[in-house]
Amino acid sequence: MRLILLGPPGAGKGTQAGFLTKHFGIPQISTGDMLRAAVKAGTPLGLQAKKVMDSGALVSDDIIIGLVKDRLQADDCKSGYLFDGFPRTIPQAQALQDAAVKLDFVVEIDVPEEDIIERMSGRRVHPASGRTYHVKFNPPKTPDVDDETGEPLVQRDDDKEETVRHRLTVYREQTRPLVDFYSDLADGDGSAARYRKISGVGSVDEIHQRLLSALA
Ligand code: AP5
Ligand code: ZN
Repeated sequence: MRLILLGPPGAGKGTQAGFLTKHFGIPQISTGDMLRAAVKAGTPLGLQAKKVMDSGALVSDDIIIGLVKDRLQADDCKSGYLFDGFPRTIPQAQALQDAAVKLDFVVEIDVPEEDIIERMSGRRVHPASGRTYHVKFNPPKTPDVDDETGEPLVQRDDDKEETVRHRLTVYREQTRPLVDFYSDLADGDGSAARYRKISGVGSVDEIHQRLLSALA
């Protein structure tokens, strides 16, 4: 299974990716998690990416496409993968086409902007794994502690309301065009990925069930 989860910041891509990767036995390729790992490790890429991410803008296509191409060489990608937060621009999607990557599904998770700010302000993450919680909607068993490792949870630096608003604008301008890009491809060519759109409003479990039906 090779699929893309598409959707605005806070749509629940990371949350649902956790379930789907277990269900299908495939790795999650989250460019956001990869960049945050580089920031934490203090690599030159991380130092460069941090400023961009904290502003809510996008890291350059060249950097992202290079990261993903390297990642796809790994052995665990042989049986498929789930892209979370990639592609996010037309050039990134075009790079996948040019590399003849065959996708099974592109799934758009649709959440209205008014719900997104509340989701982001209550988000807590486990930095090492990327596991994501919400203080109200998806709380950990013990407040501010990761369920699996017992390690502390943190807030993401780019979850400030002002930055989230900018990320939403960037999504509208640069990522939303991928909806047409992939639905046009799916219409035109039977070998292209099937396009599915689901509502991301509801409980985490409801969305999970909706996704499984969409991917059946
Ligand atoms: P990235 O990490 O990809 O962030 P994003 O796409 O903005 O998405 P988020 O991770 O914020 O949201 P999500 O959809 O994963 O939601 P989540 O499951 O966490 O990118 C960060 C930055 O890196 C970018 O701004 C950019 O600078 C850079 N970058 C990354 N990829 C790039 C690329 N390809 N090109 C260029 N730059 C790139 O859920 C959110 C919250 O809601 C959580 O608290 C969760 O518990 C809660 N929640 C989830 N589901 C529900 C539900 N059903 N009901 C209520 N609450 C819910
Ligand atoms: Zn995410």
